[in-house]
Amino acid sequence: MIKKRVFSGIQPTGQIHLGNYLGAVKNWVDSQDEYENIFCVVNSHAITTTQNPKELRKNTYELAAMLLACGIDMKKSNLFIQSEIDEHPALSWILDCNVSMGEMNRMTQFKDKSAKNPKNVNAGLFNYPVLMAADILLYQADGVPVGEDQKQHLELTRNIAERFNRDFGECFKIPEPMIFKSGSRVMGLDDPTSKMSKSAKGANHAIFLLDTPDVISRKIKKATTDSQTSIVFDKNREGLYNLLGIYEIFTHKTKEVIEQEFEGKGYGEFKSALAEVIIESLKPIREEYEKLVSEKGYIEKILQAGATQVRPIAKSTYNRAKELIGLV
Ligand code: AMP
Ligand code: TRP
Repeated sequence: MIKKRVFSGIQPTGQIHLGNYLGAVKNWVDSQDEYENIFCVVNSHAITTTQNPKELRKNTYELAAMLLACGIDMKKSNLFIQSEIDEHPALSWILDCNVSMGEMNRMTQFKDKSAKNPKNVNAGLFNYPVLMAADILLYQADGVPVGEDQKQHLELTRNIAERFNRDFGECFKIPEPMIFKSGSRVMGLDDPTSKMSKSAKGANHAIFLLDTPDVISRKIKKATTDSQTSIVFDKNREGLYNLLGIYEIFTHKTKEVIEQEFEGKGYGEFKSALAEVIIESLKPIREEYEKLVSEKGYIEKILQAGATQVRPIAKSTYNRAKELIGLV
């Protein structure tokens, strides 16, 4: 039986947090047996915001080590660095010339990011979703596992692909978004009305995968909740709902079982149990990361092998697009 192919990417813009893990990386790891997997550290996307070159190089390599530590298994999956494959920006240019300003102007992430960072609103940031479309379409991916914030970008990708196929001839597979019900939108601990993000400034905003047990306990203790006392899943109690969602994923318990577990108990007990389960779940990742990150040669070999393996797929799609459009 031929397995469906999934493609996904993550930016090396700093340490990854619980939102990245639960919304994306954990799902990649958990479904590795089911699919043919291609995962990419999207460093070319990272330069749409200001990066220190030395830091970017370090973050790229450390993120690759972190993905392996999370359980990406090279026997089942492919991992590579985006900038190693020249066809990404090359296809992106062809797609740029086939997407309207109207479609691009609707992208909410561009609006959010440019409002947050008004001093560096560059053309690359505006074109970011097209490079993302190129990433996905080059590999003829069937599915794209991501968090909910990427939904609009995936819709654009599908529209671009459908239109290109119709106007120039069959070239791209139309990818399905794979947005899982739980974990697809982890909220900030200090502000449960905004999604957990790498760039938020608050000291207690996000739990990073490399946080020590003490730091995790402190952040959970300080997490914003409300003045009610019962521990129940209620969407209107955003802070608690977010924390319970995290507990649900890590413990694999049902909502009913969790509510029973904390019946008659308060926030103190729930938060201790939650901190404990996060600490225990992240411990093996942190330990594996510490081992891997010092093995630079090994990581580099994996990434090079990854690029070598996927390059022919990218080349073949790009050459077809080039031919269809009259560039060869
Ligand atoms: P990024 O760090 O922006 O490259 O995101 C990598 C992956 O994490 C993408 O699939 C995002 O959709 C996902 N992601 C980022 N933040 C969150 C969040 N707060 N909750 C769930 N998923 C997220
Ligand atoms: N835009 C994605 C994010 O910020 C990262 C990304 C780039 C991506 N290219 C991709 C995700 C291709 C999935 C597929 O999270």
